[in-house]
Amino acid sequence: MVAIPTETVYGLAGNIYNEGAIKRIFEVKKRPLFNPLIVHVHSIEQVESITIEFPEKARKLADHFWPGAITLVLKKNEVIPDLITAGKDTVAVRIPNHPVTLDLLRILPFPLAAPSANPFNRISPTQAQHVASYFEDDVPMVLDGGPCNRGLESTIIGFKKDEPIVYRLGAISLENIEQVVGKVQVMNKKEKTPDAPGMLKKHYSPRTKTIVVDNVRQYVQQHQELQIAVLSFSDAYKSLKVKHVEILSKERDFKKAAAGLYQALHKLDDLKIDLIVAERFPMEDLGRAINDRLNRASQ
Ligand code: TXA
Ligand code: MG
Repeated sequence: MVAIPTETVYGLAGNIYNEGAIKRIFEVKKRPLFNPLIVHVHSIEQVESITIEFPEKARKLADHFWPGAITLVLKKNEVIPDLITAGKDTVAVRIPNHPVTLDLLRILPFPLAAPSANPFNRISPTQAQHVASYFEDDVPMVLDGGPCNRGLESTIIGFKKDEPIVYRLGAISLENIEQVVGKVQVMNKKEKTPDAPGMLKKHYSPRTKTIVVDNVRQYVQQHQELQIAVLSFSDAYKSLKVKHVEILSKERDFKKAAAGLYQALHKLDDLKIDLIVAERFPMEDLGRAINDRLNRASQ
């Protein structure tokens, strides 16, 4: 088991055929065994070697976005161990778009299973240093590929009767996906979700209490007794009397904001303050995925 860089977040990776390595991933992350792992591969041929079906729209998405931040949930074949998929008949796969990890996957004679390299319920790591400080000696090696340039986990897409369903919003926006395959369904958060077992409400959390608000100025003015850090999409709050203001993108660029989100949460979490007040994003483009992560961080 070693940590590897991807363009989304760092992963804790192991040979999918090595039971010891895979068990160690669950153990080190304190991840429940019912939550399956994503399998990382270097080519569509390699995906075909571990699956039995490739719906037409899945192929369109793969052709268009891979290597990249889309994970497809496909019917698996018998070579994939149950430990990886939590006993399900599907496997989540993606070709990551990171030069170092792509090279690694091409050299290795097996795919790598890798969840995000954070302890259960903590913020995902977007730098090698985040992984090292989370796990210290428990993770023997972190392959340093620099900061992740997408900074948000992959968008996960499953299929029902060959029609795509978004299980997890992520680094590729809904708008981009719909340009390729037309209208897609997004799994309702309140629904019970046996198809996407990892979608727990609380997730990606800083230890510092975090809330998401529409009106940052008003909230801060009403809570002057607290030591607050503001996380915002614009520089409209620069003059507020708070401990710190972290601006994700002055130009209101969604991609840039997404790329810096976890990095900013890691930083604010280290400030030893009472509260992180995050500005809610517009519900469009990557704003949807960012709001999803902020909402989970605030549970
Ligand atoms: O960007 C990413 O996706 C990163 C990098 C390392 O690739 N990985 C990542 O893995 O975010 P993880 O384990 O933190 O999240 C994977 C999610 C979990 O919520 C899990 O439940 C879901 O994928 N998943 C895995 N296999 C599945 C399956 N067969 N069916 C439905 N959901 C699945
Ligand atoms: Mg994760």
